[in-house]
Amino acid sequence: MDEIRKLIHCIEEVLPLLPLPPKIGSALAKPTQHSTCDGLDSVSDKELEQHLEPIREALVDIDAVTLLNLKQLSKAQGGASLGPNRRKYIQPIHNEITPPIRGIRYIHIQEVDNCYSIGIFVFPPRSVIPLHDHPAMAVLSRILYGEINVQSFDIEINPTLKRTEVTSNECINNQDIDDCVDMSEEEDERNHSTASNPNGKTKGWLSSFLSLGPSLLGRREDNAVKDQFYDTTPTGSIHAIQKNTCTIRSPEISLLYPRRGNLHKFAAGEQGAAILDVLLPPYDANDGRDCTFYRVGKIENICNDSKQCLLIPTEQPNDYQCVSGEYKDLCC
Ligand SMILES: [Fe+2]
Repeated sequence: MDEIRKLIHCIEEVLPLLPLPPKIGSALAKPTQHSTCDGLDSVSDKELEQHLEPIREALVDIDAVTLLNLKQLSKAQGGASLGPNRRKYIQPIHNEITPPIRGIRYIHIQEVDNCYSIGIFVFPPRSVIPLHDHPAMAVLSRILYGEINVQSFDIEINPTLKRTEVTSNECINNQDIDDCVDMSEEEDERNHSTASNPNGKTKGWLSSFLSLGPSLLGRREDNAVKDQFYDTTPTGSIHAIQKNTCTIRSPEISLLYPRRGNLHKFAAGEQGAAILDVLLPPYDANDGRDCTFYRVGKIENICNDSKQCLLIPTEQPNDYQCVSGEYKDLCC
């Protein structure tokens, strides 16, 4: 846990530079350069990248074997990789989280309201966190072991002229669109229809992310694109630009910002994966930072490598389950 303490210390050093409320009685009570507390929307992604660099470096230094007390296991026996440079394989821990429940697990480590939260997502093999957003937040995701396929989208702030409309079901014999939209409308209908509540304790923002709450449709109405271009654009839809899908492996870090890469979907590889996540600030529905799931509803334009999409808010997919749990003494 020394590494987590170092990480927390690093985060608390960075927080005064961000437009987050000071926490009375702690090191966070230093004067801030910003006065708002609605998240990080007022800071440019570039500025944030500079501020967050010390946290990124602290995450790079974390030793996953020590943090999770990982046991060695050969690749042939199903060991997950610690990364191409480590040439070491370990036993994944998805079956060791208590209580034993199927699905993706979240190990909560630390949260300071409106400032940050730290936790670990543990992915069973081939499990998926569906496409979702992080309103006015920055997130650093350090792969502890295994590999994750990441599909992410930038929020398009000022969508320009009306573009050629191409629906995702009219894939113009084009691999680009297959790459861009890996869920058909039909599959979406299956996955996003009704939802039941999984068992699992929830805490703060976790209640919206870990459990299946009421319909998420329209939660971002204030910030959302309304019927600017399409008569039938569902309320809460977002114009976004899809980034190239990539695979990140331990010990790499995925970063997202209020605009750049703000929506993403994670899919674990064959041996599962674990990700140490730092959210700045945490989700908070009372402060306009609720988690919303999306589906790719329309490919608006494909130009060179730029794929412009309309993302439509949707209920949490009913085949997605993420339940909090505990692992050894991993808590502060
Ligand atoms: Fe996320």
